[in-house]
Amino acid sequence: MIEIRNLTKRFASYTAVFDLSLTIAQGETLVLLGTSGCGKTTTLKMVNRLIEPTSGSIRVDGVDVMKQAAFELRRRIGYVIQDGGLFPHYTVAEAIATVPKLLDWGPEMIRERTNELINKLRLPQTLLARYPAELSGGQRQRVGLARALAVRPSIVLMDEPFGALDPFTRRQVRRELFGLNELRETTVVLVTHDVSEALELADRIALMDAGRIVQVATPDALLTSPASDFVRDFLDDKPHRLHD
Ligand SMILES: Nc1ncnc2c1ncn2[C@@H]1O[C@H](COP(=O)(O)OP(=O)(O)OP(=O)(O)O)[C@@H](O)[C@H]1O
Ligand SMILES: [Mg+2]
Repeated sequence: MIEIRNLTKRFASYTAVFDLSLTIAQGETLVLLGTSGCGKTTTLKMVNRLIEPTSGSIRVDGVDVMKQAAFELRRRIGYVIQDGGLFPHYTVAEAIATVPKLLDWGPEMIRERTNELINKLRLPQTLLARYPAELSGGQRQRVGLARALAVRPSIVLMDEPFGALDPFTRRQVRRELFGLNELRETTVVLVTHDVSEALELADRIALMDAGRIVQVATPDALLTSPASDFVRDFLDDKPHRLHD
């Protein structure tokens, strides 16, 4: 479904992502895990062309993303931005309805889907008429999730989607999205630096360091057969990282 081949991104002389290759299967939840600044967001943004690669290729459903119109790609691929990324002049209801409207959904269908999502995400109805500036950080983040999931895209890219939530809400929202039907058929690429979140949600984890993938494996394999001391240390550090 997503094939990344020898992907490199340089910003001036700085190499943020180096020769990265990774294939993500249909329906898989792949977690990009790694230290701050290791290239997770940059990698994610190259998948939907928010950042253009310096070299290498990405194919989505067999087609090179560089050969697809960026706006088409972003309609097909849900994207949850690290800080929520909401337009300040759109209410919550308008934000969630953005892509459904582009796809010509009727008002009743939009209303139903909106209600379903805000229930799953534990957001109160009263929020629908508010603007992003009138929301908490955790609420903004969940509205960003609702917006990205609205049309049930087959691929969703999530950049630290639960970073601003307290542990209780985080668990509930994760259970609603990953434990039930919502994301079962969806290919998810999720960025986090939270080891326990990665272990809980991932089918496979790609552990990154300094722009490279150090190891790609199932959570079990990563724990039982770490490829290096870095991998072992990163996973061992769990209790500390939870309080990052
Ligand atoms: N536009 C840019 N120009 C120059 N350097 C950049 C640019 N965007 C990112 N970088 C650098 O590339 C590296 C990777 O950044 P990236 O945002 O991908 O990290 P990350 O793994 O998502 O980190 P975090 O966990 O802190 O979000 C960082 O060192 C960052 O400073
Ligand atoms: Mg990032």
